[in-house]
Amino acid sequence: MTNTEETAALVSEAQIAVHWREEEYYYPSARFIAQANAADPRIYERFSEEHFPECFREYADLLDWDRYWHTTLDTTDPPFWKWFVGGRLNASYNCVDRHMEKSPNKAAIIWVPEPEEEATQAITYQELYRRVNEMAALLEGFCGLGPGDRVTLHMPMVPELPVVMLACARLGVIHSEVFAGFSGTACGGRIADSGSKVLITMDSYYRDGKVLDHKVKADEAVEAARKEGREVDKVLVFRRRPDEYHSASPMVQGRDYFVDEVMRDYAGKKVAPVSMPAEAPLFLMYTSGTTGRPKGAQHSTGGYLSYVAGTCKYFLDIHPDDTYWCFADIGWITGHSYIVYGPLSLGTTTVIYEGAPAFPDASRPWRIAERLGVNIFHTAPTTIRMLRKAGPELPAKHDFHFKLMVTVGEPIEPEVWRWYYDTVGKDEAVVVDTWWMTETGGFLGATLPAIKAMKPGSCGPAALGIYPAIYDEEGKAVDAGTGRAGNICIRNPWPGIMQTIWGQPERFVQTYYAKYNHDSASKDWHDWPFLCGDGAVQALDGYYRILGRIDDVINVAGHRLGTKELESAVLTVPEVAEAAAVPVIDELRGRVVEMYVSLKPGISASPELEDKAKAAIETEIGKVARPRNVWIVPDMPKTRSGKIMRRVIASISNFADVGDITTLANPDVVEGIRHHVQSQKLQRGDVPRQLTEKEMEEIRSFGNA
Ligand code: WT7
Repeated sequence: MTNTEETAALVSEAQIAVHWREEEYYYPSARFIAQANAADPRIYERFSEEHFPECFREYADLLDWDRYWHTTLDTTDPPFWKWFVGGRLNASYNCVDRHMEKSPNKAAIIWVPEPEEEATQAITYQELYRRVNEMAALLEGFCGLGPGDRVTLHMPMVPELPVVMLACARLGVIHSEVFAGFSGTACGGRIADSGSKVLITMDSYYRDGKVLDHKVKADEAVEAARKEGREVDKVLVFRRRPDEYHSASPMVQGRDYFVDEVMRDYAGKKVAPVSMPAEAPLFLMYTSGTTGRPKGAQHSTGGYLSYVAGTCKYFLDIHPDDTYWCFADIGWITGHSYIVYGPLSLGTTTVIYEGAPAFPDASRPWRIAERLGVNIFHTAPTTIRMLRKAGPELPAKHDFHFKLMVTVGEPIEPEVWRWYYDTVGKDEAVVVDTWWMTETGGFLGATLPAIKAMKPGSCGPAALGIYPAIYDEEGKAVDAGTGRAGNICIRNPWPGIMQTIWGQPERFVQTYYAKYNHDSASKDWHDWPFLCGDGAVQALDGYYRILGRIDDVINVAGHRLGTKELESAVLTVPEVAEAAAVPVIDELRGRVVEMYVSLKPGISASPELEDKAKAAIETEIGKVARPRNVWIVPDMPKTRSGKIMRRVIASISNFADVGDITTLANPDVVEGIRHHVQSQKLQRGDVPRQLTEKEMEEIRSFGNA
């Protein structure tokens, strides 16, 4: 490497100074404050560093424990922290039984099918209790599953999904739900990685007015798992409509079973909740990182459940009599924490919607909110942007009133924030911008809604009991108010943090701790800052602004896609020699993916090959990851050490300045690629709007090569 290249590699995206306009504050109404779970600012005092870790008792005390713990935080094996050691509890008991005893006829889940003519289902706590017990009996009796076993779920947004999750939790079985939009192949990889012998799926579901054949993916999943050496013994298939089967895939004798048929033997059966140690894993949630192999984030029972209960109570202000609707997919961590485990642990009513946000029109969410009396609404900027574009005036036509609204998953533009606040919130609702990630179980940054003012575009200060720091590449703290960005870390452990990466403990330490830990023998948690993976800036008021991922991850509509995963998928096309994924700024989806591909010698470019590359991504990962464009180029721009310069092609795709290319091994290819790509994009009408300074910096430093 030349000197210039070395310097370039040291300056990460996160270190670049960022300028933005400070936004004005918005304040909660007196009416909101009067009813809030946390209205006394002294709560921050209770969760201050001098009260750590005992402050988190307050969260754990929201749960019923079979046996109280003796050690709140055990740090003897860093960074494998153990919370509430000695304690025992059952997550399904905490989310179901204890509320059933108090209010059996209250709705636990209200399920809204996508077809509007199909009836909404209210599932009471009593009914949920019955269903969870029967399902647990089936999993135990028919599948032979017990504590510590893993089972993979590939389920859409139907009430059977939380029922199965809670049935697993009842038995101490570790569930691993894979987002239904992911392909069968992606699901198979996760089956193999987790070592599941059972796959639970559904024949079909509704999305955007269509019935999607989902069972076909189970066949691909079983096949993909087999290639990695894992045999699936049983595939349990729910039917979206009783007694009807909507799939082209044949049921395989001795492997595939309809749940409703097997269930006949388990009707009315009860299973005592298994008392699990606080540290027993509750579930795995796979996510993307820098290398191709997905990471199974392993979450605990006691720490995780305490953390989601506590954050639901204080940050989402959930009361037992609220009707809460989180418009995310249960296949992601948001759904696990803030559709299923958090709200149900507090005994509230959680709404689950099957389908697409704007089906059959962009008023659908507002009709649902009005009809069900939803008073807490939770969704992602990508959905907000889409609903705003499709019908900016529609919320005003419906008689719903939110007291609180949440945004999660990616930074929200202040303009979009203001529409959410004014038009959806009708100037009555507080907005809580929650920043966190799959690995962290629950919120890291958010405003306590009755206590802290809102500031559009900033997630707010750290959550209770979370002590962040922003470090530069050398590990020096970056001060608040300097306008300088750095790598945001959390200095302390907290109950919701993942326990490890399933089966890859070294990767866990390497990915999240190696960068800023200087003494791997230290037993002191102060020596183990957790690297969140985001760049961030802190303003003088202590609020954080999140700039996006510092690793090779592209956030498409709130879905984390690893560039390596995308590239490996395209490399399954035999004609492809090299592939590089880059983000393109998109008005609605935040970022979309574009792929650059070079072909093996003797093969010429064709639209068919572009389609093959797109299809490969759909097969290996899923439709969410489908690139907008595939550009076949004669040669990739590379450094002299052979590294693809992703920032150069990212700049081209975004019509940004390509920057310094003098250190490239082949600077002459750049102009040809630029001309080809940009003229095609102009022809297709696919030109991004003028980028902001911050977006420009992100693109110019993408991949950091
Ligand atoms: C990444 C994590 C959080 C659960 C759903 C996504 C980005 C998340 C915010 C926010 C700005 C955000 C970060 C983070 N992100 N929330 N409020 N403001 N950025 O979980 O798939 O693990 O993605 O999403 O970049 O690292 P995930």
